[in-house]
Amino acid sequence: MYKIAVIPGDGIGKEVMEATLHVLEAIDVVFDYTFADAGDEYMEKTGVALPRETVDIVKASQACLFGAAGESAADVIVKMRQELDLYVNLRPVKSYPGTKCIFDNLDFVIVRENTEGLYIGLEEETEEGATATRVVTRKASERICKFAFEYTKKTGRKKVTAVHKANVLKKTDGLFKETFYKVAEDYPDMELDDRYVDATAMFFITKPEMFDVIVTTNLFGDILSDEGAGLVGGLGLIPSANIGENQGLFEPVHGSAPRLAGKGVANPSAMILSAVMMLDYLDENNAARKLENALVEVLAEGKVVTGDLGGSSSTMEMAAEVRSKLEEY
Ligand code: NAI
Ligand code: MG
Repeated sequence: MYKIAVIPGDGIGKEVMEATLHVLEAIDVVFDYTFADAGDEYMEKTGVALPRETVDIVKASQACLFGAAGESAADVIVKMRQELDLYVNLRPVKSYPGTKCIFDNLDFVIVRENTEGLYIGLEEETEEGATATRVVTRKASERICKFAFEYTKKTGRKKVTAVHKANVLKKTDGLFKETFYKVAEDYPDMELDDRYVDATAMFFITKPEMFDVIVTTNLFGDILSDEGAGLVGGLGLIPSANIGENQGLFEPVHGSAPRLAGKGVANPSAMILSAVMMLDYLDENNAARKLENALVEVLAEGKVVTGDLGGSSSTMEMAAEVRSKLEEY
């Protein structure tokens, strides 16, 4: 039995969470859920977006499923990443049948450093304008590169590519690149290379099949993962994992989508795929593959899918269809 914190949040976050929990009932893994509050609605009632109690509930759990927050997203999710030291942001770029993919056979993963780089929050105004500080530490570079290699080994992937701009950012990305190759010495059988971020952005469009696992710093990872999402068809489909030493937090990449909220039309796929990532994180790989396959079947058939996928089914109808596939296995 796994202790799981559940934070539905705001808008469609609540709807895709309900749908996903419904689907998870048909999986042979037992979860002990603790529901917790965060987001705009909670802030309207209490004045805080992320109560201490919620952070404590997540800390006491093995994993957390997070729906989405609204305007308070930065105070909720960015704060949670810091409080829990969730130093990895894992974003798969995977094409599924029946979706509007630019490429049909993509399957690579971006491992983004989630705690420092240009997102450290050190900006200041100067006489001429403003400056931002970019922090790259040996410790954070080492642990993110180590995670990338371990993840590659564990998932049977073949190659790790470090993405940087060490020719210009000689000190910060120089350190990142050097650390990558130092960590690589512990993985002599692994295929590896490194590329500049600008060229990588181009290769995403021209030759994305060359990538397997990418490891990179915070800002580059943020931008490249949205570019990757664009290759495989839209926000309703893209999950993510935030991982630290003791916890994992799994969330769709999308937000609370206020214009869709309350209508029951949001695509639950991104949240369901986030649950797939959670199952893999918990080493429940069989259950993860079953859940993923059930969703893939529903996407490929294209009959009981939401509006963004060209169908006319509701969030819960699509979830029920995924669940009925699961029950057939
Ligand atoms: P959004 O991701 O909520 O929605 C953008 C558009 O993408 C929607 O209008 C909709 O057309 C489409 N979309 C997103 N999810 C979908 C789904 N499951 N099914 C079908 N279509 C979907 O981003 P937006 O509009 O920029 O932000 C809305 C609110 O969400 C803001 O308050 C923002 O702060 C918050 N937000 C929260 C995030 C989080 O909690 N991690 C992440 C991004 C935004
Ligand atoms: Mg982003």
